[in-house]
Amino acid sequence: MRTTLYYFTGTGNSLACARAIAQGLGEADLVPIAALRGQARVGVPTERIGIACPVYFYSLPLLVREFIPRLELSGVKYAFLVATMGGLPGLAVEHGEDLFRKAGGELHAGFAVRMFANYIAEYNVRGARSVQAMQKRMERRAAEIVRIVQAGRRHLEKGGPLDRLLGRAMFRLVGQKFLREARTRDRLFTVDPSCVHCGTCAYVCPVENIRMVDKSPQWLGHCEQCLACIHFCPVAAIQIRGKQTRMRGRYHHPDVRPDDIAGQRLAPGPS
Ligand SMILES: Cc1cc2nc3c(=O)[nH]c(=O)nc-3n(C[C@H](O)[C@H](O)[C@H](O)COP(=O)(O)O)c2cc1C
Ligand code: SF4
Ligand code: SF4
Repeated sequence: MRTTLYYFTGTGNSLACARAIAQGLGEADLVPIAALRGQARVGVPTERIGIACPVYFYSLPLLVREFIPRLELSGVKYAFLVATMGGLPGLAVEHGEDLFRKAGGELHAGFAVRMFANYIAEYNVRGARSVQAMQKRMERRAAEIVRIVQAGRRHLEKGGPLDRLLGRAMFRLVGQKFLREARTRDRLFTVDPSCVHCGTCAYVCPVENIRMVDKSPQWLGHCEQCLACIHFCPVAAIQIRGKQTRMRGRYHHPDVRPDDIAGQRLAPGPS
């Protein structure tokens, strides 16, 4: 069965995971969600569909939350969600289920895949050795996901009762507010004098939320909070809330390049 695998990524984890799953499934087409932002309805050309994206604020990114209900699911027989995250998936899979229901379909499988945590607004990124460990773990998980999807099994990783309680509490206490304000949180981004005016930040932004003015980035207030601009800046010149992130590392998945992130703006041609 051919699969359409829609993806969204800021620092490449979800794309790397989607690629591994697509390779394992064999016949699978990767389609960037960002390229379909302008479409009111999205026709799904295959009977099997997957979504791969990061967990944001114990839920799913706004872009993805707005995308799933626009899917034409009448011809879809099996749907799965792969949410990559730093360790606390919260309600991501549960919200995925709700969104598929809203679209008139059903989510058959939902996976929370632990990868490298990239939210440097709150913590530092970890060292290179843990990237290797993450990569191995992701490959194992991708193989497991492929087996479950190929068998057409129901499998929803929503965690145990305690995880759900914690997920619900965190989403209500923190996540909901952050998610609601996500688009305009780019007002907290600042640029250091170390900026070399290369334009990489504007180039990678998957939703064209950066305009270069006098060779410096200016954010436009429709941000997805993917942090691609921050992590791909070659001199780490972009900070969140001024100094807060200056001493923190930058990260992107080792197999994912700026062209891959920028490429999300383009819909793939017919295969
Ligand atoms: C805005 C934002 C919010 C995040 N919230 C969570 C979260 O609630 N739980 C979690 O485990 N990781 C969280 N993360 C970490 C990402 O989910 C994780 O690093 C993911 O693999 C990044 O995927 P990407 O490389 O495809 O963008 C967050 C990251 C960002 C940028
Ligand atoms: S990527 Fe960094 S150095 Fe390049 S223009 Fe943007 S802020 Fe400046
Ligand atoms: S402005 Fe930066 S954080 Fe916001 S969507 Fe664009 S690349 Fe992502």
